[in-house]
Amino acid sequence: MGGGNYSVVHEIVLVGLTSSLEMQLVLFLVFSVFYVAGILGNFLIVLTVISDSHLHSPMYFLLANLSFIDMWVSSITVPKMIYDLFKERKVISFQGCITQMFFIHVIGGTEMVLLVVMALDRYVAICRPLHYLTIMNFRTCTFLLVAAWTIGITHSLIQLVFVVNLPFCGSSEVDSFYCDLPRFIRLACTVIYRLELIVTANSGFISLGTFFILIISYIFILVTVWQHSSGGLSKALSTLSAHMTVVVLYFGPCIFVYSWPFLTVPVDKFLAIFDVIITPFLNPAIYTFRNKEMKVAMRRIFKQSCLMDLS
Ligand SMILES: *[C@@H]1O[C@H](CO)[C@@H](O)[C@H](O)[C@H]1NC(C)=O
Repeated sequence: MGGGNYSVVHEIVLVGLTSSLEMQLVLFLVFSVFYVAGILGNFLIVLTVISDSHLHSPMYFLLANLSFIDMWVSSITVPKMIYDLFKERKVISFQGCITQMFFIHVIGGTEMVLLVVMALDRYVAICRPLHYLTIMNFRTCTFLLVAAWTIGITHSLIQLVFVVNLPFCGSSEVDSFYCDLPRFIRLACTVIYRLELIVTANSGFISLGTFFILIISYIFILVTVWQHSSGGLSKALSTLSAHMTVVVLYFGPCIFVYSWPFLTVPVDKFLAIFDVIITPFLNPAIYTFRNKEMKVAMRRIFKQSCLMDLS
């Protein structure tokens, strides 16, 4: 770095969401409840799918994998945020900040690709029902999952390579409740225009790209169902509209934050709440608890564990 006036930044100060005590109390309650409920709901789903052999099919494996990822989505940011809420000075170490950004993007990228894989699975099931079992077999499913994680990790590494060696000049305040890339790179004392372009090209591309693939596959499914039976359309519509709600809630903030990183507005950090708390909580409710087989399987598990207690 040439030993100029660059200072070493050891810790990052997070501004947080609010400084009003009443609001902090409200946020503490709301975040804790949503976080715990989300973790429990997702954990229950993973447990049910793994332990019930009736659910050993690609669709449920993918659902369980989504739940597994959702547990991480909120765990990367929310516990620290809750812990920090009442602290006057919210700090995170420089390494902690880099680690947080790395995992946010690994998990975020993987989740986006996984949602596309799940849409693909539904597309094959609905539009190619006779070939479903040959196309979506266990091997394809595992391959797609490995691909999702590979894309997520690559996506995150590519961005961080440009960030870890940035020169800093002392300012270390991030106006958010966690370390995120668009705000973090503003701390650097260098021309960040190209960096912002890289973030947009990478994170913006992956969020916009997967979002459009999802919307197009939903439209495809709806049109196919509509052509084959008008009766099935309303059922497909009700399922897909639930999926679309999650997708819009999840992708909306991401697209807003990463596709226009040049413009960092205060509303960004409030939008991020949707991604780290609301969607990981809603996903199990929308993808799984509306599903009949899943409900039956859960009841079976509860019954079994009750019987074990009695004997
Ligand atoms: C993810 O899916 C694979 C099947 O490809 C399955 O073996 C695995 O148990 C799933 N993981 C979780 C956490 O459910």
